[in-house]
Amino acid sequence: MCFDAGMSSTVRIPTARYTSPEYFERELAQLWPRVWQLACPLDQVAQPGDYYEYRCGALSVLIVRGDDGVLRAFQNACRHRGSAICEGSGSALTELRCPFHRWTWSLAGELREIPSRRVFGVTNDELPLLAAQVEVWGPLVFVNLDLDAPSLASFLDPVPAETVWARLDEFRCTAMVSVPARCNWKTLIDGFSETYHVQGIHREMLGMADDVNGPQVVWERAGRLTQQYGLPSPRLGAPAGEVDDQYVWEHFVTVMGARVGADMMVPGPCPPIGSGETLRDVLARRVVEHQRGRGVDLARYSVEQLLDMEQYNIFPNITVLVFSDMMQVVRARPGTTVIDAYMDAMSFERHPIDDPSPRTKPLFDLEVDPDAELPLGLVLNQDLANFARSQKGLHQPGLRDLVVSRSEECRIVNLHDNLDRYVNGMSESTPSTERST
Ligand SMILES: [Fe+2]
Repeated sequence: MCFDAGMSSTVRIPTARYTSPEYFERELAQLWPRVWQLACPLDQVAQPGDYYEYRCGALSVLIVRGDDGVLRAFQNACRHRGSAICEGSGSALTELRCPFHRWTWSLAGELREIPSRRVFGVTNDELPLLAAQVEVWGPLVFVNLDLDAPSLASFLDPVPAETVWARLDEFRCTAMVSVPARCNWKTLIDGFSETYHVQGIHREMLGMADDVNGPQVVWERAGRLTQQYGLPSPRLGAPAGEVDDQYVWEHFVTVMGARVGADMMVPGPCPPIGSGETLRDVLARRVVEHQRGRGVDLARYSVEQLLDMEQYNIFPNITVLVFSDMMQVVRARPGTTVIDAYMDAMSFERHPIDDPSPRTKPLFDLEVDPDAELPLGLVLNQDLANFARSQKGLHQPGLRDLVVSRSEECRIVNLHDNLDRYVNGMSESTPSTERST
């Protein structure tokens, strides 16, 4: 569906969805085993023998690149007594051997070896590893434990077609950082489903982004915000002359100066702006020049494609930020309880289209302590610092519902509409989403 900007209404969402262990268990049973989920960047499993364990709540899915170059996924369980077979990630695997009793499968999931086989009396054909679906979109690997689920392409539709211009295949993952967060996974991803909070916790961005007029669209399971960078927020309302190009330049560089080859700590003077040009024209040109220095040609892109952010939200738990020169993914992954989650941030850089070098594992793949120095850069650090506080209020007994704007926060509404399709309603006195005007 397309969002109608003229409609004014709110949606009430029960706080129990964020606080109830019972609802969390329903998600574990009814949502996560049946939905396409981002497992890892393609770079984690690009070479034969590469493997990656994707964990989500109690689920553990093993993604393996076989000797034959084929990508496969398996439920991470030994068919003997259920031990997890592989943990973490790595390379150069030649077999899948359970460390408990050394039952062994090929990388294609075929049983090969059972120590003292005669005491079991089973054949290899009887006990292959339990397969999961695995498919790739751009540089992202998705899995689905439901072997009957429709294809990834149909699940993502129309996002792959909408992003053809950005040639996502050219992006490679440079870093994955995983941070435990003391909140429900939806508290976390809700924070990446609206930019209404820029005025609250990302005030530096008011000097360089239009956080008010960005158009949003929602489709069946996805949504998109397009946001202009390189101009001031209408919220600033500063006297004429106060918010000038120097002001915007300084804020742009503070937030994302690396894109234009500037020192983010020392913005310096705004570059000269030619007659008939705007600061956005200059910033766009600087993005092209900076990438040309890396061997990447972005000359084909318009100023809008070079400077605007396209933020996609894909049910249930990821957002993909597409820029001309970079791509970022944030995933909200459930932990083991209703109020534990992980914020997984993945950074991608564009490689030349004809780069013959093979994809390799990301340079950084870290799980970091949230109490240590926050590691993610200005804006993500601000988001991270907010999650526990955002969750705390949801546990107050008088607060039964969140009041969410159907327009400004339409991507949050879409998440909950989709959640209703998977998770049976709890015994609530009111419908799970009660509309009011
Ligand atoms: Fe944010």
